Amino acid sequence: MTRTVYLNGQFLPEDQAKVSIFDRGYTFADAIYEVTAVIGGKLLDFPGHTARLKRSLEALGIAMPVGEDELLELHHEIVARNGLDQGLVYLQISRGAEDRNFLFSDSLTPTFSMFTQVVPLLANPKAQTGIAVLSVPDGRWANRQIKTVQLLFSSLAKMEAKKQGADDVIFVEDGLITEASSANFHIITKAGVLVTRQLSNALLHGITRGSVLGLAEKVGLAFEERAFSVEEALDADEAFITSAGAFVLPVVSIDGKAIGNGKPGERTLKLREVYIDDQVSRAIGR
Ligand code: PDD
Repeated sequence: MTRTVYLNGQFLPEDQAKVSIFDRGYTFADAIYEVTAVIGGKLLDFPGHTARLKRSLEALGIAMPVGEDELLELHHEIVARNGLDQGLVYLQISRGAEDRNFLFSDSLTPTFSMFTQVVPLLANPKAQTGIAVLSVPDGRWANRQIKTVQLLFSSLAKMEAKKQGADDVIFVEDGLITEASSANFHIITKAGVLVTRQLSNALLHGITRGSVLGLAEKVGLAFEERAFSVEEALDADEAFITSAGAFVLPVVSIDGKAIGNGKPGERTLKLREVYIDDQVSRAIGR
């Protein structure tokens, strides 16, 4: 089935949406993106994604191409046109197109595209089994709080993990874990404390992370924001990742070594349930 996608003010069949080969998103990865989960045709954590989109654009000096009300309306419209019940809305804004030059003009018109992906987010089999991760040095650029489309390092690292029989990677810098390839990484210590790295330019400021921290108390967990090592993670009771696509997903091993009993943690699964319930109850529909 052909999807209906959005490009620069128009909804089009996906094979008719064309972007210039001179687009700076294509030549310089000069673009930012957002991914929003949809359940029952409604948007999860949408205000958080809008706020981060604005921060990313501001950091790169790209103007927001539409107002916030229109942004929400475009999300509703693309979900409706594709009859999307469960999945993701991907949105990308590049600086625009001009002849290739490291110096860019300040008069460019941003290229704004959106598409949907059907994903069975709730029935994720990895929620039952958990995922295995490998630790690798973090070789990404230093401004990871900006959600840019420069994802090659992360993509290659995840491919390599898959080749080695794992599901994902966690990046390590100066002996401390930054995050996973496309998710934030967290542990629950033997003392029952949820530990998550503090926000900085070392990692993406995950919207799911923020919402989950807001719910920690509900499942009886105190939380601490600080960096931690692979050794500390291996010594934890439980570990998990968070993202718009994964929600809360248990991590059961690092580099082939089990975390806790090597099974998805009880409190992690409770957090997943509480996060989904809370978000679904507050999801934004038309
Ligand atoms: N990735 N860290 C990185 C590097 C990410 O790419 C993501 C999200 C997250 C989690 O952020 P959030 O909770 O706001 O989704 C953390 C998206 C889902 C992706 O690239 O598909």
